[in-house]
Amino acid sequence: MLAIAILAAGKGTRMKSALPKVLQPLAGKPLIDRVLSSTQRLNPNHRLIIVGHQSKVVEESLQNYQDLEFVLQQPQNGTGHAIQQLIPKLKEFKGELLVLNGDVPLLKETTLSSLLKFHKESNASVTFLSANLDSPTGYGRVFANKSGLVKEIIEEKDCNYEQQQNKLINAGIYCFDWQQLSDVLNLLSNQNSQKEIYLTDTISLLRKSLHFEVDDPYEIKGINDRYQLYECEKHIQEKLKYFWMGKGVSFIDPISCTLSEDSFFGTDVIIEPQTHLRGKCIIGNGCHLGPGSLITNSTLADNVSAIHSIINEAMIGENVSIGPFAQIRPESNICKNSKIGNFVEIKKSFISEGTKVNHLSYVGDSTLGKNINIGAGTITANFDGKNKHRTIIGDYSKTGANSVLIAPIKIGSNVTIGAGSTISKDIPEKSLAVERSKTIIRTKRD
Ligand code: UD1
Ligand code: CA
Repeated sequence: MLAIAILAAGKGTRMKSALPKVLQPLAGKPLIDRVLSSTQRLNPNHRLIIVGHQSKVVEESLQNYQDLEFVLQQPQNGTGHAIQQLIPKLKEFKGELLVLNGDVPLLKETTLSSLLKFHKESNASVTFLSANLDSPTGYGRVFANKSGLVKEIIEEKDCNYEQQQNKLINAGIYCFDWQQLSDVLNLLSNQNSQKEIYLTDTISLLRKSLHFEVDDPYEIKGINDRYQLYECEKHIQEKLKYFWMGKGVSFIDPISCTLSEDSFFGTDVIIEPQTHLRGKCIIGNGCHLGPGSLITNSTLADNVSAIHSIINEAMIGENVSIGPFAQIRPESNICKNSKIGNFVEIKKSFISEGTKVNHLSYVGDSTLGKNINIGAGTITANFDGKNKHRTIIGDYSKTGANSVLIAPIKIGSNVTIGAGSTISKDIPEKSLAVERSKTIIRTKRD
């Protein structure tokens, strides 16, 4: 039997944030979600989340997980006190308890499997992850003999100068034999510099405590402050860009760009400076993104270009050119060979192939046919103050500069709207519609 407990009750004082530490985003995903995803395939019998500080906020953010059991720790008297809260919950439980720190987000599932395997094979009371760090500042130090048997863990704040020189650190990830742990949990005291009950003090009380050293120190990096958050972000970003460069994506200035882990790229994609991808994006072959574009949860077919533009929850067909300075808002679908030019906003609209919206337009709640030319400054007036209405324009139609189309409205195919017209009636196909006041010219008197 396997139970997993994630420590997520702490305040995260060093973060200096109104948001609980475990909800801080890293490459767009909260720390605790990252920790949870490393446990997904371990098939635990329990996944327990120990919450305390802003517990409601943390619980709410995890509502989409069906199997989580929340355990309240109130007040938060330290990591050992947090695990003491499991005693009533795991009364009948026999087996391993895997304890994860909610602020150690880069841990790999394979490392956890290896830890579990090693722990069981060595018949230990506890096995925990350790690492040898060049700069061990902030971590508890591990005092072990050559064969890996650990005498104790001393928190940095309780170490003397000599003990601080020890570079072997505790990663905060433990595999305990639950029965042996529960026998010693109530023996812990708070006689230390922080007046907290430390989980690390169980190590010297248990029969056989082992450590299991990880190869990649980044995997066990704990996040206590914003600098460490930045270091992990940088690490994820570097790895992602390195990976995609290997698959045929060019970055002109990778340091100025950020990617999400859920984005996928074809080959011969060029990413110019200051370009960012967030959420789930799929980018086709030959796309040219940026400089200065932000693309979120969108799919771009082959050979799309997007310069200085924002694309959010949209589908973009092949050979579409976007920008500079365009905004494509959610639920928009722009079909192949279309062009969305400068200072154009598209919202919740279907734009068929070959249609051009080249300059200074707002197209919202609209369905546009094929090969339409939307003149500069055309606006679909979709909001009557209460409700939103649709605009429909047929194939091959043209709107003159500064046309205003008052929705709901249907404009047939092959229609021309004269420049400056405000149209509030449906226009049948193959017609010209102009609505404009007469120009009056009078000679001035001297
Ligand atoms: C802890 C370890 C330290 C280790 C480091 C690894 C202890 C005493 N120390 O130190 O040896 O090197 O992690 O990153 O365990 N939490 C609770 N309830 C509490 C206090 C904390 O749930 O009462 C949670 C926090 O939300 C956090 C985790 O426990 O997710 C670790 O707490 P933190 O205060 O960050 O411990 P560290 O000082 O980093
Ligand atoms: Ca920590």
